[in-house]
Amino acid sequence: MVEPRFFETIAPIYDFLTKLFMGGTYESMRKRMLNEDTSQMEILDLCCGTGYICNTIEAKRIVGLDQSDAMLARNAKVKRDNKTLIKGNAYQMPFKEEEFDRIYNSSASHEFKLFSRLLKKSYEILKPGGKIVIFDIYQPKNPVLSLFMNTFVRYAVERGIMFVHTKEEWRQMLQEAGFVVEELDVIRGLYIFARASKPLNTAVNQPNS
Ligand SMILES: C[S@@+](CC[C@H](N)C(=O)[O-])C[C@H]1O[C@@H](n2cnc3c(N)ncnc32)[C@H](O)[C@@H]1O
Repeated sequence: MVEPRFFETIAPIYDFLTKLFMGGTYESMRKRMLNEDTSQMEILDLCCGTGYICNTIEAKRIVGLDQSDAMLARNAKVKRDNKTLIKGNAYQMPFKEEEFDRIYNSSASHEFKLFSRLLKKSYEILKPGGKIVIFDIYQPKNPVLSLFMNTFVRYAVERGIMFVHTKEEWRQMLQEAGFVVEELDVIRGLYIFARASKPLNTAVNQPNS
């Protein structure tokens, strides 16, 4: 996990740098993540940062969780009546079972050595039929892109601490947590996009323990 101090420093220019690094992918991925009517749903933006998802999405209730004061302070500049921001560690999410219809996790999974733990907890706190939507950098198979990811991105952007997974590892992690994988796509050779659902009848798809 990147040291929390990193985001305290970078928060004022985080949005600018991310748009610069991601180019057109910044908006196209947000559009894909938010491609359904969520206006009556209860939403968790897990590792919400400055609000890429939680300041754009339409929902009945929006909860953003992040551990960085500075990122949350930027996020809080956008006032929304139905939004609650919580400072906390994603490894210890303070939520009840079956609380949310959707969980979003964008550009953050690579911060976690044990992202599978977050997936298991996400499964618990989603309602049956609920979905998790994930977007992040991943571990490319292409040797040139892999070199780029594991040199420039790993050391210049992430300061040496970065956990990325292949597409196959993503599928396995999601399935082991109990999810049904609906979409799992590599985007522009560098990113992974996943949408996975918790079955309506959870008795038939118990997560592996
Ligand atoms: C690269 S930013 C992504 C922010 C936002 N989701 C976006 O797409 O712009 C990663 C975020 O994860 C947060 N984060 C990292 N580790 C965390 C943890 N253990 N618990 C909660 N938040 C964490 C950081 O504070 C940061 O705001």
